[in-house]
Parts: sequence; structure tokens; C-alpha cells
Amino acid sequence: MAEKLRLTAVGVGPGDPEWITVKGQRVLAEADVVFAPCSEGAGESLALQIARPWLRPGQRVVTLPLPMTRDRARLEPAWQAAADALVATLGAVAAERGGAHGAYVVLGDPLFYGTFAHLWRVLADRHPEIGVEVVPGVPAFVAAAARAGRPLATSSQRVAIVPAVYEADERSLADLVANFDAVVMLKVGRALARVRAALGRLGLANRALYAARVGLPSERVALGLESVEEDEAPYLSLVIVHREEKP
Ligand SMILES: C[S@@+](CC[C@H](N)C(=O)[O-])C[C@H]1O[C@@H](n2cnc3c(N)ncnc32)[C@H](O)[C@@H]1O
Repeated sequence: MAEKLRLTAVGVGPGDPEWITVKGQRVLAEADVVFAPCSEGAGESLALQIARPWLRPGQRVVTLPLPMTRDRARLEPAWQAAADALVATLGAVAAERGGAHGAYVVLGDPLFYGTFAHLWRVLADRHPEIGVEVVPGVPAFVAAAARAGRPLATSSQRVAIVPAVYEADERSLADLVANFDAVVMLKVGRALARVRAALGRLGLANRALYAARVGLPSERVALGLESVEEDEAPYLSLVIVHREEKP
């Protein structure tokens, strides 16, 4: 029975449910159980909301609580508990049906800055009997470029992708812009004011693209960071800056 447990991580894209792949849609519709990570105290996971239109009526959904923290001492047991709960759920289905297939929904792409990589490691350690596959998804920065109608990179251009919260000082940004034609900054959040000031001093703020909640009804895409008055961006926001005016 054990080898009959399967899990597919499905990247559901950053917001618009129609950005999911055909394969991801099929896996969701066919899965015995859909698993969704959820942060403590938050409402329904955004990945699950994006996946909802593709689920069968009455399809079983199990949420796996994961704390919103970088504290490994809290995260590791939470990942272990999530892995154990996931395998126990699939095992119970398999006991009745002879096999079980779960789909685990992930915002954007499953292996690009997400918790799925950690969960996969823990699953492989604790439950090597489960077969895991990944269906890629549209990452938020790719969708942001599409919504803004601005190329990310052409021909031999170099692109850097960084988490803004760790790279928002002027020196780091100056180095990045010196070495790359385009810099994508994720996890802007509280770093927005610092990013805007640093890019302003580098003379680049007016050509930086700000994209928040891309693909969602509250989407905001703006060219020029000066037009973004807030000092703090929502969690779902990113900045893309090109060294040259016309990328
Ligand atoms: C933990 S990372 C997850 C990335 C995701 N796996 C992907 O492939 O895009 C979270 C960061 O992705 C970016 N992000 C994800 N969804 C977004 C959206 N709809 N609009 C803008 N940024 C988004 C933000 O920078 C956010 O802080």
C-alpha cells in the first residue's frame, strides 16, 4: 500500500486562477485530497482561494497550519506535524481505495521561495514511501512583467532576483544594478521606503516597477516608485528595476 501514496505540489500562480497550468488544473480536479498550507490566525490560504474554481464540489480539503516565523525551532516541528498529518490523511484514503493522490497547492511556483521545499525535505526524511511530483506555476515576478507590459530581459541581459528585505540598502542595490540589467526584488513589505530612497539616490526610482497583489482584484501595478506613497508595501508586492530606461 505504502508506495501507492502520491503527492503533487501544484503551483497555482500568484493570483488569477486562469494562470494555472492545464496540468495543474487536472491534478487538482483528480486529487483525492487537496492540501493547503495556512498561517496561524490567517483566513483561508490564498493558494487555496486561487485553486477553488478548479476543485470538484465537495472535494476533500485539508489545511496544514504553518507558523509565519523564521524561527527554525518553531518551524521544524510544524513541518514535521504537517508532513505526518498529510501522510496519515492519504494513508486513510489508501486503506479504503488501495491508493491515494494528494494535491498540495502553492502560491506562484512551488520551488521558488516557498515553504514547500522544506515540507518536501521533511516528507523525504520521515515518509520516504510517498512519491512526490511538482507541477510548476507562474511566479509572481513573471506575471508582474506581463501585467505591466514590460519585458523582463531580452537577448543577453542579466537578471538578479533578491529578497528586498535583505538587500534594500543603497550599497547592495548599487552593486546589483551595476552587475545586472534588471533586478527583481521580492518580499518588499517593510523595506519599501528604504528601496524607494536607495533607488531615488541612484536615479532609478522613476523607472522601477511596483507590483502588488498581481492577478488579484486589488492588484496595483505602477511605474515609478515615487508614485507609491506608502512606506510599507503589502506582503504580496515586488519591485522590478532596469538599469536602462527601455528594457
Ligand atoms: C514566499 S515568496 C513566494 C513566491 C512564489 N512562490 C512565486 O513563485 O511567486 C512571497 C513573495 O512573492 C511575491 N508575490 C507572490 N505573489 C504575489 C502577487 N500576487 N503579487 C505581487 N507579489 C507577489 C512577493 O514579493 C512576496 O513577498
